[in-house]
Amino acid sequence: MNIYFAPLEGITGMIFRQAYEKNFGGIDRYYAPFVTTRDGGIMKKKEKRDILPENNKGIDLVPQIMTNSVEDFRKTAGQMAEMGYREVNLNLGCPSGTIVPKRKGAGFLREPEKLERFLDGIYTDAPLAISIKSRIGFYEPEEFRRLLDIYNQFPVKELILHLRTREEFYNGPVHEEAFEYAAEHSKNPLCYNGDVCFIEQIEKLKEKYPSLSSVMIGRGFLRCPGFVTGENRADKIYQFMTDLEQAYEEYMSGEVPVLFKMKEMWTYLQASFPEGEQWFRKIKKMKKLSEYKKFMREKFE
Ligand SMILES: Cc1cc2nc3c(=O)[nH]c(=O)nc-3n(C[C@H](O)[C@H](O)[C@H](O)COP(=O)(O)O)c2cc1C
Repeated sequence: MNIYFAPLEGITGMIFRQAYEKNFGGIDRYYAPFVTTRDGGIMKKKEKRDILPENNKGIDLVPQIMTNSVEDFRKTAGQMAEMGYREVNLNLGCPSGTIVPKRKGAGFLREPEKLERFLDGIYTDAPLAISIKSRIGFYEPEEFRRLLDIYNQFPVKELILHLRTREEFYNGPVHEEAFEYAAEHSKNPLCYNGDVCFIEQIEKLKEKYPSLSSVMIGRGFLRCPGFVTGENRADKIYQFMTDLEQAYEEYMSGEVPVLFKMKEMWTYLQASFPEGEQWFRKIKKMKKLSEYKKFMREKFE
């Protein structure tokens, strides 16, 4: 069974992926955070840089598109195909209040007929394989049956299911029963996503769904970066965080955005350490990157 690193916008960009791969690895495929299409499907420079193969050496990467326009999807996917990608992922999960009203991300799930027409458009003569990352509904998990009927009409390379509705954002328990239904009725390969953060959970999923092709993990890797490889040790984490911080320092201008990135990492990473919560309270208040670096040295060296 494959292990995928979930796309986490603002976190798992090229710099993160390189630092993670160097220090932990164990990932069969990374999914890049979404790019939104704009006029003519041309990606922003920054978005393009993030997925350029030369910036992702040694990493099996699938780029992701979020759009509701067949034409824009085709153009952007075409650009990705030219870069050498053979698969692109469609985002039908983003719950953001600025995205949903535009009928994009999870917002598209509210209009199944339009979604069906859109999928018909993008799967016709697609220049590369298309996988889908979807929530199980907009308001209610019961919507999933209808959505799966739609997905079943298309050659979805892999159907990645984040087992929550849009209204649930990232909170509350996942709807395992929706995955059971999918395992019985999906005509396409499935990937399980949502709240996987222990190796025992992966073992259970393998047992329960012997034909499951993959599991996608996001926040579990941020909380315990080495849990899958069995190396969630302080020395490994320290090296990873040092590499990440240094790479951001080279890449970003000014200390403040780097410190911000580190604080964001620690909102999750605190879970790896018994004193993590206490450390995070201190890190949160820091104003200077030098203060953060000193703190890290004191705790880890
Ligand atoms: C900060 C953040 C950013 C995210 N960005 C994306 C994204 O760009 N594309 C996407 O499909 N999902 C995105 N997600 C959703 C995750 O990929 C994943 O589906 C979700 O976090 C549930 O999996 P997990 O419990 O393993 O984290 C994001 C989630 C978070 C918390």
